[in-house]
Order: sequence, then structure tokens, then C-alpha cells
Amino acid sequence: MLKNKTIILGITGGIAAYKAADLASKLTQAGAKVEVIMTEAAMKFITPLTLRNITHRPVVTDMFELASEWSVEHVALAEAADAIIVAPATANTIARLAAGIADDMLGTVVLATKAPVVIAPAMNDLMYSNKVTQENITKLKARGFSFIEPGYGRLASGKMGKGRLPDTPEIIAAIEAALGQKKDLSGKHVVVTAGGTREPIDPVRHIGNRSSGKMGYALAEAARDRGAKVTLISANVSLDAPADVTLVKAPTALEMKKEVEKAVKKSDVLIMAAAVADYQMEIAAGNKIKKESGKNLTLNLVKTPDILGEVKGNFIKVGFAAESENLVANAKKKLTGKKLDLIIANDITKTDSGFDADTNRVVIIDKKGKTEELPLMSKREVADKILDKVKGLL
Ligand code: C5P
Repeated sequence: MLKNKTIILGITGGIAAYKAADLASKLTQAGAKVEVIMTEAAMKFITPLTLRNITHRPVVTDMFELASEWSVEHVALAEAADAIIVAPATANTIARLAAGIADDMLGTVVLATKAPVVIAPAMNDLMYSNKVTQENITKLKARGFSFIEPGYGRLASGKMGKGRLPDTPEIIAAIEAALGQKKDLSGKHVVVTAGGTREPIDPVRHIGNRSSGKMGYALAEAARDRGAKVTLISANVSLDAPADVTLVKAPTALEMKKEVEKAVKKSDVLIMAAAVADYQMEIAAGNKIKKESGKNLTLNLVKTPDILGEVKGNFIKVGFAAESENLVANAKKKLTGKKLDLIIANDITKTDSGFDADTNRVVIIDKKGKTEELPLMSKREVADKILDKVKGLL
């Protein structure tokens, strides 16, 4: 898989930089064309000469003195890359990449590339667990970067902790996974809804629900990574907008209906992961409702439209069913009632699954009633499983 692939190896200034020589060597032995970019700090730990002798290629160390092959334009490297691996990646480099800083060659190439980027962090355990670093990692993941978890072991400080650069075979496996990323949805337009709607009661209050939007956002990111054009219709979430996805805000059921109907006109797939309120105020109060002591308050609620049940067109329709009992039976009823191609039955009785969790436990049911029960996995993995099924129906 690595044969004849152009792999850019970004080396940054951490003590683990010496291990990058082994990585460069193994990648070269596997037939890859390894283009090394070193940051200034990396050169304090290991010399460009070492890498040049290993890769038999010039090493890029400075934006203004490029190796002649790449001198036409610095983005040529970014375009030539089949994958980029940054190993070791310091907290500083991760922060710079998250901010899109491009005042050195590595930052420029990462900013300009369309190739998959894999980051292998290696640093002091406190720097790794620091909220800032973790937020930067989350941000980059949302943009489609893959991360390899650092290993636990003896760190440069002498103490034990999580922050070691993983061994070469693990890094190579991650590069191969990035290279093998399926682009099986390219040319397809996928519409995903996410988050929970909020139906106003008055200017201050609303009827809402516990949906975090994580499942829908994971679906949008997975579809994007598989080459689809993605429209993400988002109700209320506190998540970063994924890169390269058209984000449309739809805070209420009625707004979501309007946006879904517009988006599906040119789409191949609609996946409704949003938790849409079933009821809204018949008329939301124009002014804040005052409490009156000793009195109950009755709200007059009317049904919202069933967006998924009512929307029509020539596309694959996928719904979710959040259930706390009779998971499969209830989901099957919704599948037929709403005339769906697939329904994802979601067990919401456990804390590691359903609302706000990063993991999910679902059963995928198709039109013929065939069920596939998936074990607990990350929402991103669930998203890919759902898209595998969708792909089969297209
Ligand atoms: O009927 P129930 O609300 O359980 O169905 C869940 C599925 O229907 C989800 O995919 C949800 O996004 C969608 N739905 C909808 N419009 C509603 C309620 C739910 O599209 N008003």
C-alpha cells in the first residue's frame, strides 16, 4: 500500500524526534517516497543529514531555501502528498496547526493539502492532558485529521505518563488507514440533520430535548471523508462546525422542515439524526409569561409536522428511533410508518449510548426487516457502519 506513495513526514521539536528516523527508514523500505519537512526546533534534536541519508531525498527545513524540485511553488509538496504524517507532533505544533498558522514549511503544507493528515502527538503528559491541547486536538479532528493516541510509559522528564510517541508499526498502520480511506460516496450529496430542536414558549423559554448532535455531526464528517458533498442541517448543538460541509441552522421543527425540503431536492440521501420536537406552542407568547402564585400553568401544544414521514423525493431515507423499551419492535413500526429505507434504533437507557455520549449502541434495520445489532462503538464508527449500509442501497 505504501509503494510509490508520496508521504510527507513532518518532524517537530521533541525528544522523540530521533524516533522519526526509524519511521522514515521503514516507510522508505516499504517503497514510499518520503519527503521530510523539519521544523527549526526539530533540527535541535536530529540533523537533516540523518534523514536525507535515510530517505535519499532532500530534506525541507526552511520555506525560503527549498530543495530545487519543490521550488516552483511551496504548495507543490502539499499537492504531491498522498498522506502527511506529523511525528512527533509537539503541543506547540498541534496548536499552530489548529490555528492555521503557516509561517513555516510544515504549517504551510498542512494548510494547503487535500491529503489525509495523521498526527502522532508526543509530549509531557501534563501538556498532553491540558485543556488547550485537548481542545486543539478536538478542533483538528473535526477538520478530518486523524490522531494516534500517545503511549503510556517513561517520558523525557523521567516520570511515567501518557505522552510517548507510539512505536513505528502503529504509526505506519495509521498512515495505511489514512491512505485506504474509502472515497465510496464521491459524487453523492448527503443531507444530515442533527441536534435537538427548541420550540419557543415565550421569548425566554423553550421546549427542548437532550440531543447533543454528536451522532449527526459524526455522520456528516464520515460522509465528507468518504467523498460526499454534505449538507448538515443543524438544530441546537454546542459543537464546532465541521470543515468542508455546508452548515445550515434550523433551530425549530418548522425551520428544519423548510431546510430539509429545500436540501433534498438535489440529494441522494437524507439521514435524520436530529431529535425533532413532537409538539410546539399553538401560539408562542410574545412577552415573557409571568408566574402567578398558587396557579398552575397550562400550555396549549399542537403537533409539529413529521418531517421525515412527510418529505418525498427520489433519495434514500434514513431515520433514527431513540427508544427506552421494545427497541427493535418500536423502530420497525417507525420504519414502515415513515416509509424509510433504513432505521437506526438507538438504545437510550444506558449512559454510554444515546444522548450526549461519545459512544453509541444501535441496531440497524432495513426495509425487509433485516436487523444488524452493533456492539458499543464510537459515534464515528457507528456513522461509518450506517454509511456502509447506505452505500449498498445507492
Ligand atoms: O417518531 P419519532 O420522533 O420517534 O421518529 C424519529 C425519527 O423521525 C428521527 O429520524 C427524527 O429525526 C424524525 N422526526 C421528524 N419530524 C418529527 C419528529 C421526528 O422528522 N416531527
